[in-house]
Amino acid sequence: MMKEILEQVGRVDLTVRELLMFAKPWRPEKSLCELWPVVAAVVARAESNSTFRDVVFEVSGDLTVAAALDPFLFEQVIWNVFLNGAQAMHRGGRILCAIESLPESARVAITDTGSGLSAEAQDNVFRPFFTTKTRGTGLGLAVSRQIMEAHGGSIAIESTRGAGTRVTLTLPRTIKS
Ligand SMILES: Nc1ncnc2c1ncn2[C@@H]1O[C@H](COP(=O)(O)OP(=O)(O)O)[C@@H](O)[C@H]1O
Ligand SMILES: [Mg+2]
Repeated sequence: MMKEILEQVGRVDLTVRELLMFAKPWRPEKSLCELWPVVAAVVARAESNSTFRDVVFEVSGDLTVAAALDPFLFEQVIWNVFLNGAQAMHRGGRILCAIESLPESARVAITDTGSGLSAEAQDNVFRPFFTTKTRGTGLGLAVSRQIMEAHGGSIAIESTRGAGTRVTLTLPRTIKS
């Protein structure tokens, strides 16, 4: 019972944090960070969380590339994307994180093997409060987009209904004030 209570409290805590992030002004404290340890830290946190019980994680690609980011904020984006992936995979599945370096930017592509989304949903996912879940806030991707844009980066989503979804996070590789 205690475990159930703690999980419920965790859910409330996340909802409140999403609302605060959406409503409160904030600014990224950027520094040059290697992407791989940041992604790995969020994977480790997910692997010890019961929501991700049946999810297998894999991280691949360029394990040395650095980007200009606020680790606290960027971890929140990755967490939001992982959570959506897990929630789209009712019978478990895989979440793959591919890190890629481009001349001016670095990319983390996060692919899940979940239900995917319709073309109509795809056009709306970044709108605040758009959700297809009974208990969703519809703020996860809206806040994630705010965070990526505040870094001078971007977020994109592509999906094939029934096959899965890929979310691509792009960050600049150098700090521009
Ligand atoms: N990986 C994904 N697979 C399928 N649908 C997704 C995925 N990520 C986002 N979505 C869709 O986008 C909507 C908005 O996501 P989000 O902003 O995180 O809000 P919430 O998770 O609270 O619904 C979700 O309700 C869902 O319909
Ligand atoms: Mg979400």
